[in-house]
Amino acid sequence: MVTKVTNESGATVSTIEVGRGLVADFVLPGNPRRTKVAVLTQPGAQQVALAYVDRLQELGLETHSMVLPDREEAKTWEVVAKAHGWLAEIRLTRSDTVLGVGGGSLTDVAGFVAATWLRGVEVAHIPTTLLGAVDAAVGGKTGINLAGKNLVGAFCHPTSVTIDLDVLDAVPLNIQREGWAEVYKTALIADPDLLELLHDSGPLTPLDDVVERVVRFKAEVVSEDFREFGRRAVLNFGHTIGHAVEFASGCSHGEAVAVGIVAAVAISRDRYGFDTNVREGLAVFALPTTTNADAARVSELLLLDKKNDADGVRMVLLQGVGDPIVDHVTDDEIELALRSVGL
Ligand code: GLY
Repeated sequence: MVTKVTNESGATVSTIEVGRGLVADFVLPGNPRRTKVAVLTQPGAQQVALAYVDRLQELGLETHSMVLPDREEAKTWEVVAKAHGWLAEIRLTRSDTVLGVGGGSLTDVAGFVAATWLRGVEVAHIPTTLLGAVDAAVGGKTGINLAGKNLVGAFCHPTSVTIDLDVLDAVPLNIQREGWAEVYKTALIADPDLLELLHDSGPLTPLDDVVERVVRFKAEVVSEDFREFGRRAVLNFGHTIGHAVEFASGCSHGEAVAVGIVAAVAISRDRYGFDTNVREGLAVFALPTTTNADAARVSELLLLDKKNDADGVRMVLLQGVGDPIVDHVTDDEIELALRSVGL
């Protein structure tokens, strides 16, 4: 199945393929001037990267590979500078392509490296985790961390995203559950039927029933609002407090999003009477619903969230399943939300 992300003129900017056994027929989008592909990958994804390198060589392309550090360790200036130095050595030109093969952190940083090399070269992604597939690799947000999560970055669409469910099925459960947090988020903001399916089948829900519909929703939102001037902000449901918890505690992104969902639901329940039991729903995926992060640090980090404006902290809340709203929250509401996750 192929989903397209379009720009405001309706032109396709990103093609997302979801399927099985995709490496055999893999091709990059047409570009007769491309001669080289710089593959950025990470520990744990190297086998998959190797298969794509073989395929690219079969297609007559020169390939070079670099292994970046794992997870959030990759999202630093030092790593970006190293990757740029390497692109200079291999003389990657504006006609060439960066291919990111890995999880969400890897595609975030690969996208940023590509967006800033020679003022922007083509990037394509092969996500190797559920989290990468349903969120990070799709939609063109790239970035690295500074005093807060993703504070430096660029919007830059990957020209293609290849999501191979055979690759995702092989991911260990403790990593897979991180992706389930993003799937659960999408179900809450957009898809009551998917939420029912997740509540019925938990982590046994077949990826064939999940990935395509989550990706299709994200592609629709991003096509409408690439730079997050409006609707795209709903994709950050659970991420305001989630990002602060992640940065303060060093827990994984998926765990932090799960905690962030519980916190945002506490305000939604208080304000709008939202009544879905998300604690139970998330626990089925072995996702945490409380945190032992430092409360003062979390509060401090909340002030750095990118959705904030001069009037204060803005969060995505739920008036009902599939009915998100972005609004300012009061200090009392933040306190209520933090208390609900043990802070
Ligand atoms: N991860 C949220 C977004 O791509 O907008």
